Amino acid sequence: MTKKKYEEVMMEIARRAASGVLKPGSRLPSIRALSEELSCSKNTIIKAYQEMELNHQIYSVKKSGYYLVEDYQFQKKESSQNRKIDFLSAGPDKEAMPYLDFKHCINQAIDRYREDMFSYSELQGLYSLRKQLARHLQDLQVFTVPERIAAVTGSQQALHLLVSLPFPNGKSKICAEQPTHPGFIESLKTQKADAVGIEIQKNGIDLDRLEEIFKYENIKFFYTVSRFHNPTGYSYTNAEKKKIVELAQKYDVYIVEDDYMGDIDLNMKQDPMFAYDPSGRVIYTKSFSKTLLPGLRLGLIVMPEAIKAEFLQVKFAADVHTPVLTQGALEIYLKNGMFDAHISKIRQTYHKKGKLLQKAYSEFLPSDAVYTGSSSGFYSTIHLPPPLLAQQLIRLLEKENVFLDNAERMYLPAYKQENVLRLSVSQVEDELIAKGIQKIAAGIQTMILEKKKILTWSFK
Ligand SMILES: Cc1ncc(COP(=O)(O)O)c(C=O)c1O
Repeated sequence: MTKKKYEEVMMEIARRAASGVLKPGSRLPSIRALSEELSCSKNTIIKAYQEMELNHQIYSVKKSGYYLVEDYQFQKKESSQNRKIDFLSAGPDKEAMPYLDFKHCINQAIDRYREDMFSYSELQGLYSLRKQLARHLQDLQVFTVPERIAAVTGSQQALHLLVSLPFPNGKSKICAEQPTHPGFIESLKTQKADAVGIEIQKNGIDLDRLEEIFKYENIKFFYTVSRFHNPTGYSYTNAEKKKIVELAQKYDVYIVEDDYMGDIDLNMKQDPMFAYDPSGRVIYTKSFSKTLLPGLRLGLIVMPEAIKAEFLQVKFAADVHTPVLTQGALEIYLKNGMFDAHISKIRQTYHKKGKLLQKAYSEFLPSDAVYTGSSSGFYSTIHLPPPLLAQQLIRLLEKENVFLDNAERMYLPAYKQENVLRLSVSQVEDELIAKGIQKIAAGIQTMILEKKKILTWSFK
């Protein structure tokens, strides 16, 4: 098969990097210069650079150009045979972190707002940031006003504070999908909250069971990760979201909708539950950790009037307000359109990884291992056939340089499962995804054979 022109350009860059003409971290030729040098169109060079950026071989700096990543030589030298395959870490891909752009925004925030960036500030967050957030939320079908938004120190802070907050419905229990985001399980545990679980599987939750829980269990709020669920990857359909909001309305239950990664949804027709809520029953939270920079500890909550005063009181008691400098920088980052540009790249990256993962699951996993997941691939789970234990497979695969997470800590004690693994592809290079799943499949087969041997032996 003949190579496409842009692939030839990619090979040319790789050749220059391998021969040392282009050093790790150095600037690549401009699009115009390279198109003249290689006698091809600027579009061909743009396509080649975009493809290399998606492969994390190069990165772009606004108004400066494209650069070869620092560890380019390392990536090329190490054979894929023995490279670490990390399905355990779940932060954004380091190569995709826009820290240089953000550094620029921090400097701009200091120049623009001066000592205000270092003084005590508004409890609810900078009003100018909240205005930008309200605009940004419109893209996610969340229509609200700055007065109902609070900047929080990571969305985890909002979730944690909501657990022990009294709610207007006067009810006491919290309902959560099982499994769920481990940070929320910790909040429930440390605050000794009374919680009820509802199982979430490959095809979502049983809505009849949810209705029973809402009807009989004195539920104050239902905590739900409505898109790209952590850990299963499940995203509710619009019909399901509408139904859940209706049930909440019928049985006087609040919903805490954790839309931590809504930005990466490629399907523009997907609405959050917030969009189906006519009466201020859905409390919406959003994180900037998976899509931007987790160390910023920046998130937001959209509060119904009915809980706003109580929420702000506990927020004040927790940390007075969220650090201002990062708020000022985020405001500029959003205003300049940098977030939109960044997110459109991230969306493609995760979508590509998600597709590779689902393909590998269907090709290599033994049929008795159930898997979940979605088009994002950020999170998914593998359910081992009983009596196999997740921890055993984790230990076995560590020897193969493949790392996985045990989902046991993502369950409430009464719902605990020991055969579930969580995988994230956010830090796994595209070309290693299938290899990693093949190794997992081989590990599962080894464990199944071992078990069979033991059973045959014990029946002798
Ligand atoms: C589903 C979910 N919600 C919320 C959070 C917390 O995010 P933040 O870093 O904004 O506190 C996480 C972090 O992993 C998460 O997975």
